[in-house]
Amino acid sequence: MPPDFWERNLWCWVLLLGFTIGSSGDVPPIPQTKCADFQNANLLRGTNLKVQFILFTPSDPSCGQLVEESSDIQNSGFNTTLGTKLVIHGFRALGTKPSWIDKLIGALLRATDANVIAVDWVYGSTAAYFSAVENVVKLGLEISSFLNKLLELGVSESSIHIIGVSLGAHVGGMVGHFHKGQLGRITGLDPAGPEYTRASLEERLDARDALFVEAIHTDTDNWGIRIPVGHVDYFVNGGQDQPGCPAFIHAGYNYVICDHMRAVHLYISALENSCPLMAFPCDNYKAFLAGHCLDCFNPFQLSCPRIGLVERGGVQIEPLPKEVRVYLLTASRAPYCVHHSLVEFHLQEKRLKDTSIKVTFLSGNVSSLVKITIPRQQLQGRAVMAHTSPLCQTNQVKLKFKASNRVWKKDQTVLAGRFCTAPLPVNDNKKMICLPEPVKLQADVTVSHDVNITCV
Ligand SMILES: *[C@@H]1O[C@H](CO)[C@@H](O)[C@H](O)[C@H]1NC(C)=O
Ligand SMILES: *[C@@H]1O[C@H](CO)[C@@H](O)[C@H](O)[C@H]1NC(C)=O
Ligand SMILES: *[C@@H]1O[C@H](CO)[C@@H](O)[C@H](O)[C@H]1NC(C)=O
Repeated sequence: MPPDFWERNLWCWVLLLGFTIGSSGDVPPIPQTKCADFQNANLLRGTNLKVQFILFTPSDPSCGQLVEESSDIQNSGFNTTLGTKLVIHGFRALGTKPSWIDKLIGALLRATDANVIAVDWVYGSTAAYFSAVENVVKLGLEISSFLNKLLELGVSESSIHIIGVSLGAHVGGMVGHFHKGQLGRITGLDPAGPEYTRASLEERLDARDALFVEAIHTDTDNWGIRIPVGHVDYFVNGGQDQPGCPAFIHAGYNYVICDHMRAVHLYISALENSCPLMAFPCDNYKAFLAGHCLDCFNPFQLSCPRIGLVERGGVQIEPLPKEVRVYLLTASRAPYCVHHSLVEFHLQEKRLKDTSIKVTFLSGNVSSLVKITIPRQQLQGRAVMAHTSPLCQTNQVKLKFKASNRVWKKDQTVLAGRFCTAPLPVNDNKKMICLPEPVKLQADVTVSHDVNITCV
């Protein structure tokens, strides 16, 4: 663990505490309506979990109904022939309703015909993270006995999908464990790291907790868990730091949770948009960026997993492998998805030093940039480009050879080579698209090439 971790987190606690105290006393009373809503724990914490199950249905997506007993469920709009999605939030520092929950529920109901049940455990999740952690088993048991009521009404275990955020992901794992791994699916949105990285498989989310377990990792260096916990584990932009999130502590609360909450916003975006958040299996992020992992052959036999509601994330093989790390890049804003392309430069002659070439793709007014490094004494360098438009909508490619600061006597300032690109997944070399002529690059001079790639 980096030395600044504890220091940074200590600072978080102070900050969160400050926010909690600052928000006391001035919370407006909740208006009484016929629709059920989340509780507001404010500074009341405690051993009493006060769990609420709030049902939302396709016929009335914005009005929640409290369901607790079998009779409530039968008298509600719950439809036993549809799938059921359970949303479980995590630690609530401020004791308030999660800001993203309405958006997630709405997006789920628009994307699929299902019963959506929000689990409100704001009371048990507030005040101190460690007391929230202590409540996880108790909450897991309560949710499990609620699910048993659904099963008695004829709901099948495999039609149940738990979506757990942060600590809620481990709650989902606990529930799945109580149901012997027979629930259909668990989606962990940046499963919590603190207290869980070294926890046993029974205590934390893992691949045995459901028929299909997936996790989206966006803050593995802080609030999220850094180890794989599902069948498929998405490490978004490497899993640590997200584009568009503030990198400095001065950004306050947003700095503290922006990376962690990105998993939720990505998931909502995947439900609302058709552009694919597709990912590629690889040993590590560095190897992915260096263009060493270009398809999904191993271990998925060419079906690349994607974030969203597609069954098993689109992975079609049997039996499902476990703890497969998959990588993807994203844009800094919704809809987040990018098109990944391999970019490659082949030198005509080996060079005595590492060669660095900046590649820019232009589609209309949108541009993206990546750097290819060709190691000394080698002929070829690769990288993965993330561009918001498909490769076939790229109309211009710019190349720039970056000369080293100190030009050595033997380091020529001119080079020649061939530039090629291909959209991921690259299944064979036939798909490579190359600039027709060898490119001559002079140090620090940008060369532009118009390209016209047909969309297939
Ligand atoms: C339950 O959902 C099914 C499938 O959409 C539909 O045919 C049926 O009418 C629904 N039942 C009720 C009571 O709404
Ligand atoms: C780029 O072009 C699109 C559509 O042509 C336009 O909506 C957008 O505002 C432009 N962006 C910039 C930064 O000029
Ligand atoms: C690109 O190529 C296609 C087919 O080869 C041609 O019809 C089209 O006009 C070209 N577009 C541009 C912008 O050159």
